[in-house]
Amino acid sequence: MPVLTDMPLSRLSITILTGAGISAESGVPTFRDALTGLWARFDPMQLATPEAFAREPRLVWEWYAWRRELIAKAVPNAGHHGLVELEARAGKLVLFTQNVDGLHARAGSRALHELHGNIFRSKCVEDGGLVGDELVRASAEVPPRCPRCGAKVRPDVVWFGEALDERILSAAMAAARACDVFVSIGTSTEVYPAAMLPQVAKSSGARLIEINPQPTPITASCDEVIAQPASRGVAELLSRLV
Ligand code: OAD
Repeated sequence: MPVLTDMPLSRLSITILTGAGISAESGVPTFRDALTGLWARFDPMQLATPEAFAREPRLVWEWYAWRRELIAKAVPNAGHHGLVELEARAGKLVLFTQNVDGLHARAGSRALHELHGNIFRSKCVEDGGLVGDELVRASAEVPPRCPRCGAKVRPDVVWFGEALDERILSAAMAAARACDVFVSIGTSTEVYPAAMLPQVAKSSGARLIEINPQPTPITASCDEVIAQPASRGVAELLSRLV
């Protein structure tokens, strides 16, 4: 297999964007997979919105509680671990994930930013202040109430129609502009503003690499496509960046 760049890995600046696909092999359903089991009749796009939470707070809270239990049983896979090895060997590496499952952090990724929040954190719907997990678990009410103001508590994730954390987004844009290599892994690149990052990297002169068994809207503009599941695709990436 040909090497991917003529620069040694130890001198490369790499920016990575991951999506639900990298956690699929850990047993966490992707966003656009049909929902399984009792949630099959619901559409995530209909549940992951502020309007849905306002309309049916118990239903939305219980859906996230179900996902949290599922994700708590998941473990990082070879794709997550491969990115930890890449971070250790690259000149510079920063990872932006759209996933809320915390699996990159559990695998040991350090230069990590969660673009869409984290399902294991909860916050007050009024002031956005975090609410501790012990209170959330001890609460008899569903959803729990904020201990400070009594408002409802919601998952600390970005819902459709909500803005991302400005500081994280500007860091992601800067990292896309500055890197030698941008790798998009396991994302359908359909949801903005995260989906803008590969295009920003490409137009700033980075080599654009995609790891995804399926084509996506950015596939045609990639310099290299590794059409593999993430666990095998990240291993191939490592073997071709020397
Ligand atoms: P999607 O469900 O949209 O896309 C998952 C992608 O992973 C698809 O392109 C699949 O082809 C690919 N895939 C599936 N299995 C894979 C595997 N084993 N290895 C590698 N790739 C695989 O998930 P996202 O792109 O992450 O946002 O969705 C982006 C955002 O849409 C989510 O963060 C969420 C949703 O709206 C918010 O919740 C705000």
